[in-house]
Parts: sequence; C-alpha cells; structure tokens
Amino acid sequence: MRDLLPEEALRLRLIEEKAREIARLYGYEEVITPLIEYYELLAAKIGEENRKRMYVFEDLGGRKVALRPEFTASIARLIATKMRMKPKPIRLFSTGSLYRYDEPQFGRYREFWQANFELFGSEMPEADAEIILLTDDLFSKIGLKNYCFKIGHVGILRGIFEEEGIGEEKQNGIMQLMDKKEWDEALRFIKQSATSQKCLDSIRGLIEISGRSTSVLDEIREVIEDYPRAINAVENLNEIISLLKAGGLNTDFTVEAGFARGLEYYTGLIFEVYVSEMDIALGGGGRYDKLVELFGGERIPGVGMAAGIDRISLALEKQGVELQYEKPERIIVIPIERSMLGEAFRVASALREGGFSAEIESMGRSIARALSDADRRGISFAVILGPKEMREGMVALRCMAKRKQVTVKMDELSDKIRELISED
Ligand code: HAM
Repeated sequence: MRDLLPEEALRLRLIEEKAREIARLYGYEEVITPLIEYYELLAAKIGEENRKRMYVFEDLGGRKVALRPEFTASIARLIATKMRMKPKPIRLFSTGSLYRYDEPQFGRYREFWQANFELFGSEMPEADAEIILLTDDLFSKIGLKNYCFKIGHVGILRGIFEEEGIGEEKQNGIMQLMDKKEWDEALRFIKQSATSQKCLDSIRGLIEISGRSTSVLDEIREVIEDYPRAINAVENLNEIISLLKAGGLNTDFTVEAGFARGLEYYTGLIFEVYVSEMDIALGGGGRYDKLVELFGGERIPGVGMAAGIDRISLALEKQGVELQYEKPERIIVIPIERSMLGEAFRVASALREGGFSAEIESMGRSIARALSDADRRGISFAVILGPKEMREGMVALRCMAKRKQVTVKMDELSDKIRELISED
C-alpha cells in the first residue's frame, strides 16, 4: 500500500470532489458504509479472482470479516435492509478506499479509491443509459481526453449457457476465463460441460465480434439466432445504445460480444472505460438485478458504476492534464521582532477571514531568509510587521512576484491585496 504525498493526495481529492459534484447534479445521495463487512457478504458474488484477493481476518469477537474490495455489495446490503421501503428509484453515491491483494504493478494497487454510483429500482434501459451518460459526464468534466467505452451484455453469453443447461457455477467459471481473455481455456471448459457443437460455435463466433457501429448487433444476432434469451439480451443492449446516442454520448464506444467482467453479480449491461495511453480500465460497471434479493431483500434491480480514482489520476498525468481548482492566494506574515508574534497571529487570522491562505513565519528566520523561502514555496504576498509601522497602524505588504513593497493600513490589508491581485 502506498503513502500519498501532497500532490497525489490533492489530485485524488480533486477527482473525488468532481465525482461528488456529478452526484449532486444527477441526484445521487451520498452514503457512508463501513470499511469492514462480514466476509460472506463481500464474497457472495464477487467472483473467484476477486475473492482470492480479499483481506480476510477474524475480529476479536470471532467474526470472519474482510476489508471491502468494492462498494456494490455494501450498498446492496443497505438497500436490502435499511432502505427497502424507500420510494424507488434510489440513487446512491459513495467514495473511499478499497482493498484487493492484487499484484502491485502500474495502476494496480492493494489500496485504491473509487467513486461509486448505484441506481436501484428500475429495470428500464433508461437507467442503464443514465449510468453510462453520467460516467461520460464525469470523465469529460475531469478533463480526460479520448476516453472510450467498451460495452457488452452478460445476458448474451449467459442466455446461451442457460439454454444449453450449463449450471450457474460452471457459467461463472467460464466467465472468469473470458474476463481474463483466456479464450482457448474457456472454450475447452465449455466443451467439457457436454454442450452442443452449436453452443461452441456460437461462443467462438461471439468472441470474434467487436466493433464501433451498431451493425455489430446485427452480427451478434446472426450468431445467436437459435437462442431466444440471448436475443432478448441483444435487444436490450440495442435499446440502451439507442438511448446513449439520443442522449448525446460525448465519446466513442466499442461493443464486444465476448466481453465478460470478473464480478459475478452482473445480469445485463456491462461496460468499462479506457484511454489509449493505458491498457487497464479507468472505470467499470453494469446491471445486477439479483444481488439485493440475495441479501434478504425483495427483488430490487440495480445498475451502477465505479470510477477508479487512482487510475484516473495516472491517466491525467500521462495526458498532461492539470485539474482546475480555486487556489486561495497564499500569504506569509513575518514579524520583525518576536515581541510582535501576537500581532502576527491576529493579522494572519484576519487574512484567513478574508478568504486568503495565511501562515506566519514560524522558524524564527531573518526577513531575508523568510522571504527567499516564501519565494521557493510559491507564496504570493508577504506581510511584514515592523515596530515603527505598527505604531502607526501600518504594515509592509510585499508582492513576491514583482518584488515590490508598499505600506498599507492594517485594516485595509485584505482590500489592498485583492486590488493587487485584480491588477494582474
Ligand atoms: P471493478 O471493475 O472491479 O468494478 O472496479 C472499478 C474500477 O476500480 C476499475 O475500473 C479500476 O479503475 C479501479 N480498480 C479496481 N481494482 C483496482 C486496483 N487494484 N488498483 C487501482 N484501481 C483499481 C467494481 O468495483 C464494481 N463494484 C463497479 C460497479 C458498481 N458495478 C456496479 N456498480
């Protein structure tokens, strides 16, 4: 796990703030769930790969618990228990750290951060479209360039498997292999499951199909024409894609028929977001209509997305994009003599009241050294308190960039600083 130094921590928090702003704009209310949950809850539908990577331990009360590897299970638990009776739809936002014992490598950490959005209560394609359009809006507001969506539908593969009588556990095994792009292994596994040649050919055909236009859907329809459940899934995907186009999706997408995700709870649309500079996903999500009922609730469908904040931060760095935010002007207050420290604290307080970021010289340095240090740290103004000026209710205000100094009345200090800033 990493230590995040100021620059990285700031970027992480700024991305988080953008996500919170999107949540407010789309009506997603923030919830905070615990970092630790019962192992069984987190492990239930997370998929074999993710399950193996959970931090699991026994607490002092003898309970088998784990650090959360994602938010979705916790939020579904919340819906099944405390929010079951709330009018639908329910839109929820969460952000925080997650834990997976992944092999540390570029963009893959054991502690990482997500901004997570979930919409409960609707089975309609407009709910799926909202999640993708929201994701699009988030990535574009953050300033990422040339990101694109990879889109698929779990119902296409599962539809075929169900009609071929392949049980859920076997299906999950196949999907795990497909998620890792171990196609040959997946096909071998399907063959072993005593299915028809038609099934094998269809899956082989689907793996090959991917493309940017909706004609891809026609190609898929051709391959799966004998599997009505899979056809329903394609029609659902078609409706979602039509809504995305009508709704003004800002960016490109690719439909991949053989696309699978490691998480087992998905039942419909699945998607991931990529930039060309990186081959790992910056975000991912999809529809899961059976998770809430698994946690003791009634059947409440859900669709959601998690944006990987650490990876977004890496992508911004790679693309040379700086996150825009309002930086308060930084000011240092330097007393010439120690006897003026009390006054220095009061001046700094007044500046903060005025919306500036103020600090006092706290190293006991000479003015010259304090000023050169302020230069080094990008401080905009220095307020110097000298005994003579103080007796007259005045202070010296130095503009660090222009190396110019003026004498200002103490109670006009904030106004004068604002005036100098607006002159630039
Ligand atoms: P996920 O695809 O497992 O989905 O994770 C979402 C995002 O979290 C990934 O696209 C990636 O950016 C980031 N991420 C995952 N693992 C790591 C890691 N080890 N290091 C850095 N970043 C990582 C989910 O978690 C689902 N719960 C998303 C969802 C919400 N589906 C429906 N609702």
